[in-house]
Amino acid sequence: MELLPKSLNILVVGSGGREHALLQACLASPLAATVTAAPGNAGMALEAPCHPLDSDDPAAIVALARKLGSNFVIVGPEVPLANGAVDALAAAGITAYGPVRAGALLEASKTHSKAFLERHGIPTARAAKFAATAPALEYLRAHPLPVVIKASGLAAGKGVVIAHDAASAERAVRDMLDARVFGESGAEILIEEFMEGEEASIMLMVCGTRFVMLPPSQDHKRAHDGDTGPNTGGMGAYAPADVVTPEVRQRVVSEIVEPTLRGLAAEGVDYRGTLYVGIMVTAEGPKVVEFNVRFGDPECQVLLPLFETDPVRLMHDCATGDLRPADLRLRDGSAVILTLAAHGYPGSVRKGDPISLPAPEEMPPATQILHSGTKLGPEGTLLTAGGRVLGAVARGKDLHEAVERAYALAAKIHFDGMHYRRDIAARQLNRSRA
Ligand SMILES: Nc1ncnc2c1ncn2[C@@H]1O[C@H](COP(=O)(O)OP(=O)(O)O)[C@@H](O)[C@H]1O
Ligand SMILES: [Mg+2]
Repeated sequence: MELLPKSLNILVVGSGGREHALLQACLASPLAATVTAAPGNAGMALEAPCHPLDSDDPAAIVALARKLGSNFVIVGPEVPLANGAVDALAAAGITAYGPVRAGALLEASKTHSKAFLERHGIPTARAAKFAATAPALEYLRAHPLPVVIKASGLAAGKGVVIAHDAASAERAVRDMLDARVFGESGAEILIEEFMEGEEASIMLMVCGTRFVMLPPSQDHKRAHDGDTGPNTGGMGAYAPADVVTPEVRQRVVSEIVEPTLRGLAAEGVDYRGTLYVGIMVTAEGPKVVEFNVRFGDPECQVLLPLFETDPVRLMHDCATGDLRPADLRLRDGSAVILTLAAHGYPGSVRKGDPISLPAPEEMPPATQILHSGTKLGPEGTLLTAGGRVLGAVARGKDLHEAVERAYALAAKIHFDGMHYRRDIAARQLNRSRA
């Protein structure tokens, strides 16, 4: 289907930095007639109309899309996808980007996803699933350390424990299965082998068994420099990530991506949307850590700046079955995002700190500020309203330039308690210097 300029009334669902980046891509797209977001955040509201929405509720998304006359909905986060938002939109005759619920199960259930990987012979960590404490503890006794304990369901990135001693492994099992610290998401757990290696994220835009592969990226999950401190939603990212060499990339395609898409199709799942493959590059080759069924946040924010092709057209083509893999064109260079976090993050976060941003003419070249946890105060002042407050994004001719620009931008942004990692992309920069 040939899309005419200004033919799409787009609704972006979500409220994080990822959705801010997607919103900007929509605003820049020649295909867009109107662009709306829901629920959005303070930064998104400066650029487009935002509507209140319980984004977890598929029926609410359909009702809003109908009211707005949207003919293309981009669903950012995993929860609405797992709840069947795209199925509901399709039933209402509204084109949407993102997998149907049966596809979203690859993220929403780690036991389902592990069984899928095993069924199709795709490399991943060996694992066993448990719903009862006694057999889980029995299994642990014979398991080498470290060992990885995972709540099966969605846990907002907090449901995985890497235990280095028997006591913490047992505690993790009891927390999940007995104390239900993750609620029903921990009713089933995986106990899995620890994979040694370097991690990378590979995002694909998928249309059945056709796909485009986006540049590999690397996220920084730990709160502090040198990959220390507690886990977070993501303190920064960069792309492309060199750890995915052309050889690794080839193996990811033939040993992971192709069998995954063939497996989905064979099982009757017409997958259309982003497939995020978290991989560990081990001595034996790349292995799957997990699947996500949407763009990563913050990885999305460093991929979109590298698109030369209109990402909105690619998303629409995926959704309608028209994806032509040769259509992806990317820019040279690298992109980086620094997460500017609030006081206390990732622990208990202080909210309501006033934020000061640079004037447009003070922005370093090729940089942008994306909002995650912000809100507008009574006098129109911008306030912190979440753990990850802002993303400082920069593009450069190479990683070095992108990193320099991102840190130059961060230095111009202020709020009380603001903290960010000083070593985003440092590992790759050091490697390239060595
Ligand atoms: N089998 C494993 N071996 C080594 N590290 C792992 C393993 N599984 C998970 N991890 C680490 O834990 C992190 C979170 O696990 P993941 O499966 O991605 O769950 P989620 O993102 O849902 O929290 C991964 O990014 C990785 O760093
Ligand atoms: Mg993960």
